[in-house]
Amino acid sequence: MKYRKLGRTGFEVGEMAQGLWGMSGWSGSNDQESLGAMQLAIDMGCNFFDTAWAYGEGKSDSMLGEIMHRNPKKRIYDASKIPPANDRWPALPSYKYQDVFSPEHVFKYADLIRKKLRVESIDLLQFHVWDDGWTNEPDFRATVEKLKDGGWIRYFGLSLNRWEPENGIKALHTGLVDVVQVIYNIFDQAPEDKLFPVCQELNIGVIARVPLDEGSLGGKMSLETRFPKDDWRALYFGPENLPKTIERVEKLKKIVPAGMTLPEMAMRFVLSHPAVSTTIPGMRKPDHVRQNITASDSGPLDKGLLAELKKHRWHRKPQHWSD
Ligand SMILES: NC(=O)c1ccc[n+]([C@@H]2O[C@H](COP(=O)([O-])OP(=O)(O)OC[C@H]3O[C@@H](n4cnc5c(N)ncnc54)[C@H](OP(=O)(O)O)[C@@H]3O)[C@@H](O)[C@H]2O)c1
Repeated sequence: MKYRKLGRTGFEVGEMAQGLWGMSGWSGSNDQESLGAMQLAIDMGCNFFDTAWAYGEGKSDSMLGEIMHRNPKKRIYDASKIPPANDRWPALPSYKYQDVFSPEHVFKYADLIRKKLRVESIDLLQFHVWDDGWTNEPDFRATVEKLKDGGWIRYFGLSLNRWEPENGIKALHTGLVDVVQVIYNIFDQAPEDKLFPVCQELNIGVIARVPLDEGSLGGKMSLETRFPKDDWRALYFGPENLPKTIERVEKLKKIVPAGMTLPEMAMRFVLSHPAVSTTIPGMRKPDHVRQNITASDSGPLDKGLLAELKKHRWHRKPQHWSD
């Protein structure tokens, strides 16, 4: 496992981290297997975990608290998220800041999360949605300053809405945001245009999420893939998206170099960008933990392959099924 600085937080985080959404929100999860996958990740050098209150209403935070408790001698960095009070994803410009992140709401959930994680101070607390129109809300500044000054959190971050990587750049300039979480993968390359240069200039940590496009870049899905109705992926990989995705994945399979797999290429693509501090694939299966952490050891992709992968960029806009 290689390590990178998470921007100005100074945290030395494994470049392959673990995202916990699937463990508490997707069908096919088994808590014992998930905890086993987390322990294996820690044993292989993983020290950064991304959770959120919304992943099972505290269940995911609680699992992270449990695994940290089982590993008292390891420095494990916890990152969680405050859910939007109006329970709407993504944030829309028409929503009022006060209806989404009022101080009462933020402090109530920060406290709930602290208890589930079993910590006094959360290493990184993120807002789970964001709209840049809220940047100058006085309560935004007051809340983040109070969270930090009062020792509730060490650092503050924003998780940007799906396929809106530039809807957060204004907030980055306030000095309040230490880390940004954004979708970045072989398909979704747009963060490279404007967001990453700003992060590099301001030394803001970048968490690249959804490195496998919710699983399609794992290479195991087909036109016949179906998910249970109560699994969010049934919506995402529905009739509008699944056929287009499979077509693109099949094109990518043709250019995977000998000796490499599609998921390895996808992970190494993400980690090839110097603005990226860490990536947080969902990995509930021990085999996925092993494969992904090994991909980190193999380092960046060569320039020729990166140039080829540029051609696979997919320009996408938020859809009714995408969040
Ligand atoms: N709004 C937000 O803030 C937001 C939204 C989405 C995601 N996130 C965060 O980002 C994390 C990652 O995103 P994600 O989990 O949605 O999607 P993802 O990481 O792109 O894909 C996860 C899927 O890929 C599979 N996988 C992992 N490694 C693999 C490998 N080597 N080969 C084949 N398949 C592999 C996983 O299987 P198994 O799980 O079965 O091992 C899982 O089905 C989340 O867990 C969450 O922490 C945040």
